Amino acid sequence: MEFKRNILCIGAGYVGGPTMAVIAQKCPEYRVEVVDINEARIDAWNSDEIPIYEPGLDEVVKEVRDKNLFFSTDIPNGIKKADIIFVSVNTPTKTFGEGAGMASDLQYWEKTAHEIVAHSDKNKIIVEKSTLPVRTAEAMERILKANSRGIKFEVLSNPEFLAEGSAVRDLYEPDRVLIGAHRSDDGLEAERELVDIYAHWVPRERIITTNLWSSELSKLVANAFLAQRISSINAISALCEKADADVSEISYAVGSDSRVGAKFLNSSVGFGGSCFKKDILNLVYIAKSYGLAEVAEYWEWVVRMNEYQKERFVRRIVKEMFNTVAGKKIALFGFAFKANTGDTRESPAIMVTERLLEERALVSITDPKALDNAKLDLSEMNGAVTYEPDPYKAADGAYAIAVMTEWQEYKDLDFEKIYASMKKPAFIFDGRNILDHKKLYEIGFNVYPIGKSALTHFE
Ligand code: NAD
Ligand code: UGA
Repeated sequence: MEFKRNILCIGAGYVGGPTMAVIAQKCPEYRVEVVDINEARIDAWNSDEIPIYEPGLDEVVKEVRDKNLFFSTDIPNGIKKADIIFVSVNTPTKTFGEGAGMASDLQYWEKTAHEIVAHSDKNKIIVEKSTLPVRTAEAMERILKANSRGIKFEVLSNPEFLAEGSAVRDLYEPDRVLIGAHRSDDGLEAERELVDIYAHWVPRERIITTNLWSSELSKLVANAFLAQRISSINAISALCEKADADVSEISYAVGSDSRVGAKFLNSSVGFGGSCFKKDILNLVYIAKSYGLAEVAEYWEWVVRMNEYQKERFVRRIVKEMFNTVAGKKIALFGFAFKANTGDTRESPAIMVTERLLEERALVSITDPKALDNAKLDLSEMNGAVTYEPDPYKAADGAYAIAVMTEWQEYKDLDFEKIYASMKKPAFIFDGRNILDHKKLYEIGFNVYPIGKSALTHFE
């Protein structure tokens, strides 16, 4: 079959894989290829066991793979054929040199720019899908233009807003698609090409077009605002625990104001995930580099509050368990940074495990999807950790359970049975406020939610 256009995506990760699968499904007349340097990842995309767990993704991939969706490690050939190249490589926080711990590490990004130049022999549209510092497109253009042999590259920004665990739904029904382009004739023409792709399934009024720099910056700002809401409610949760107020009631009362809105006000052990922290720190770094110290400090507090919340959670466990957890088995229910994903990047569970091991606890970890990643995350940590797919076994003989991830199945467990198998007094620290605290108390547990009074049997 003759395809209308060839789309290439460089980077077959949590964004590149699902996004391209949905584009391929919705645009059968386009040929979509996803390439990566990671051969194992590409092999997995081509197998029955795709490399990431996302509800509904398996079905989409199986429907279009080898029809108009292809996964490959042949990056040069992919670049050569492509008319439109999405770049969706990782952009982690820099760990070395200038800006270490804050700025975006753009080495993977820059490498792709050089590769695109090296293997191109016709004009192309380059789409920034990765999350990038504002004005990165300028750097990309400089690399592309400095080398092009009369070949024209038009750079667009098209940040991704999908959340893990709901990626397919978010891609099917996005609140908005954002496309940034130069407001020149060439820029607007490239913009139209990209709008045409999304318009296959996204209502036109939800496709927002802006200048390049607004688009790049909007992505960082969107994540910063979302994370800020969580840090705001988490700050209040600490106050609730002192004042006998209930943080869920406060979230409801405050979120019922339509100007505030109800979403993203669930107090928790802290936000995780590969992006919130890195994107805010990137924003902080950018603000600092423009000499805007107050702006930088304002946003930095969102991350600091999150660290405080995680630390507070562990301190509470130790304090309430009579100031010692040494030699005590503690079961962590959940290791993923949120439910419905196996991803553990920046999961609060990592820091909680580390701190509990420092206190010499025996940590038993259970999670329906994230145990393999948990093992990798903790491989260099010293201490007693066990991994147990069955939550009942994880809790067997434990002194305490700490709920780290809001998996639906944890709500439906038989806690009478769990209680019977645990050491007494038995503790539950619900880092997600998902369990029925009153019922647990009646069973005999001492219950410590986030941002609510503890329910204990102690005098
Ligand atoms: P990821 O680490 O899962 O995937 C990135 C992939 O790029 C990896 O498989 C890596 O091998 C590959 N790669 C790196 N350099 C390469 C190169 N030179 N050539 C070919 N492949 C290369 O990352 P991700 O979670 O998909 O995130 C990608 C970008 O999207 C990041 O900028 C992130 O901030 C942003 N983002 C992520 C999410 C999310 O939910 N994970 C959501 C929105 C935006
Ligand atoms: C987030 C954004 O929601 C996406 O729009 C964005 O595209 C993505 O980052 C990105 O740029 O990577 P994600 O990190 O996958 O998506 O998941 P979220 O649902 O935002 O959750 C992030 C963290 O916040 C999780 O640890 C979650 O448990 C926590 N959270 C979320 C809370 O503690 N309380 C809430 O009310 C909501």
